[in-house]
Amino acid sequence: MSFPATRMRRLRRSAGIRDMLAETRLHTSRMVYPVFVDGRSRRKREIMLMPGQFTYPLGSLRKLAAELEEKGIRSVLLFGVPRTKDASGSGAFSSDGVVQRAIGEIREGSSLTVAADLCLCEYTSNGQCGIIRGGDIDNDATLGTYAKIAVSQAEAGAHIIAPSGMMDGQVGAIRKALDGSGHSETMIMAYASKSASSFYGPFREAAESAPAGGDRKGYQLNFANARESMRELQLDAEEGADILMVKPAMPNLDIICRARERFDLPLAAYSVSGEYSMLKAASKLGMIDYRSAVIEAATSIFRSGADILITYSAPELAGWIE
Ligand code: PBG
Repeated sequence: MSFPATRMRRLRRSAGIRDMLAETRLHTSRMVYPVFVDGRSRRKREIMLMPGQFTYPLGSLRKLAAELEEKGIRSVLLFGVPRTKDASGSGAFSSDGVVQRAIGEIREGSSLTVAADLCLCEYTSNGQCGIIRGGDIDNDATLGTYAKIAVSQAEAGAHIIAPSGMMDGQVGAIRKALDGSGHSETMIMAYASKSASSFYGPFREAAESAPAGGDRKGYQLNFANARESMRELQLDAEEGADILMVKPAMPNLDIICRARERFDLPLAAYSVSGEYSMLKAASKLGMIDYRSAVIEAATSIFRSGADILITYSAPELAGWIE
């Protein structure tokens, strides 16, 4: 049947009909809010390149967690800025480290699900995601450090460990370390398909994690490659990931879609700092309507197949969905 018997506009005649037929809906229970914790600071500070986002001091996280729960947010992803950085990134696995303490505060003060980002770039003096030996990143030596970080984060109470360093074998090494230390219940959300993206720019200001020299193209994926991305996802699934993640989100809707068809694991998409800041900036210039653009962006990511959306807009979206 075709026109005039078929008329698509019948499906769009009123708000009630459009809502009834909506194939994708936003739920706060499927959103994860990234939180930056600054171990050096005593006050909450706005991130210049991410208007409306803040770095939080230790001691303030019970209150933040309560506010987020009040809004309907159920889960956070933690990033830390340590007091000091060194060549081995030792601040990342100290039981007294910024993320470990932050996890404790949030677990005590709320029933939020707590995910901890696991990487070295915020903790090493050179800002690389791995340990440098002889001028190069030593993949296999880095795995030992990642294992220590994972155990310390699990011990602090993290429900989910989220390794983002893109070292080969990281998921397997972390699973083994967790299981070997009595943390077999701790989940791994693998940054499996993470491309070397310009859209992380504002995050690197917030986390003070920009590489001192060079870039991350030696370990993060080439954004030109979809088949290679499927191999990364496959390997992380085989190594024991509980949740697979694709990042950044909007430039990778095709990857999310392919991953959804190919894997039965829960699939997360990370709408990164640059995606957030672009929308903020465009709305400030009067180019777009902020609220409808953020809703459209989030909806498109779920529509493409993501189960979980990690987004800086989670609190805003929570308010609007209500
Ligand atoms: C750490 C990490 C990064 C992001 C999440 N984990 C930065 C990077 O890889 O350079 C980016 C998140 C964002 O931009 O919102 N490796």
